[in-house]
Amino acid sequence: MLEIEKYSQSLQNYLDEVVIIKEPKQLYEPIKYIVALGGKRLRPVLTLMSCDFFNTDFKKALPAALALELFHNFSLIHDDIMDEAPLRRGKETVHQKWDLNTGILSGDAMLILAYQLFEEYEPNKFKDLAKLFSKTALQVCEGQQYDVDFETRNDVTITDYIKMIDYKTAVLLGAAMKMGAIVANASEECRENSYEFGRNLGIAFQLQDDYLDCFGNPETFGKQIGGDIIANKKTFLYIKAYQNSRDSEKEILEKLFSEKPEDPTHKIKTVLDIYNTSGATKETLKEITNYTQKANEILMKLDISEENKEKLLTFGDKLMKRKV
Ligand code: IPE
Ligand code: IPE
Ligand code: MG
Ligand code: MG
Ligand code: MG
Repeated sequence: MLEIEKYSQSLQNYLDEVVIIKEPKQLYEPIKYIVALGGKRLRPVLTLMSCDFFNTDFKKALPAALALELFHNFSLIHDDIMDEAPLRRGKETVHQKWDLNTGILSGDAMLILAYQLFEEYEPNKFKDLAKLFSKTALQVCEGQQYDVDFETRNDVTITDYIKMIDYKTAVLLGAAMKMGAIVANASEECRENSYEFGRNLGIAFQLQDDYLDCFGNPETFGKQIGGDIIANKKTFLYIKAYQNSRDSEKEILEKLFSEKPEDPTHKIKTVLDIYNTSGATKETLKEITNYTQKANEILMKLDISEENKEKLLTFGDKLMKRKV
């Protein structure tokens, strides 16, 4: 994946220039900490690829790409507070390592740093990018709110769930693709197709994240396995398992998802068993493939070279098979 290397290396150099620790250290150290932990850099790589594939120097998209990565990292700090998560990228979460207030304020500062990066663009582009960013960021907040609301609801449908992950995760991947197209001055049609490609890939990506949260390898996944079960998250796995279950199992699921036991070992084991025996696990994997295929169908409509389509296809395919 030498191609991808070129994008992530440029992003890293730019990030090292922009994200620096200054006074007050309590504010900037956690920012450096979370971004230095790395992660897949999926969103900025999509932006840089998209710009490149529309025949424009991808370096022009660096500020937009970094803005998205900073926004993403901000959302992770706050998400870990909301989800009470102890681990992120194999290390302690920010609120765990420092405290709650530090997580809140460092997160806020990252969001503002992200916005600031759009100032690098001339007025017309600034407007297009900032507009897309604001709309997307607000949708992420809405998605996150649904995600939390669903923890205490037991009538969540698959449609509700898909809308929730569309907002909390997928639209950001859509925006990542579209920003590359905006920087490259691509046509409106190209911008929209890029967006829809990223968005469908994003839905597959979140379904996969939910799957890995249950069945991933703790060594490579870098997050607490079973975290979604502990937090009573209404994932595709849960909703399908509930739909497919007999009344007696429905009752077990409902009861387990109405409590947060001190020791969750038994709860996690029981729920994972039901996910497997009910067929929910298989259906989730199938759905990941469906959305990846949807993304690929849209990809075919993109006005980019066949060679570059192939690269995006491989990228999506790798994402679907990821362990991290
Ligand atoms: C985690 O995103 C949050 C989700 C939307 C599932 P990533 O899996 O892209 O996290 P990093 O940046 O690679 O750590
Ligand atoms: C994350 O959803 C979505 C956002 C951060 C906006 P998750 O809560 O599933 O993400 P992880 O699993 O903690 O990375
Ligand atoms: Mg989380
Ligand atoms: Mg969450
Ligand atoms: Mg998750």
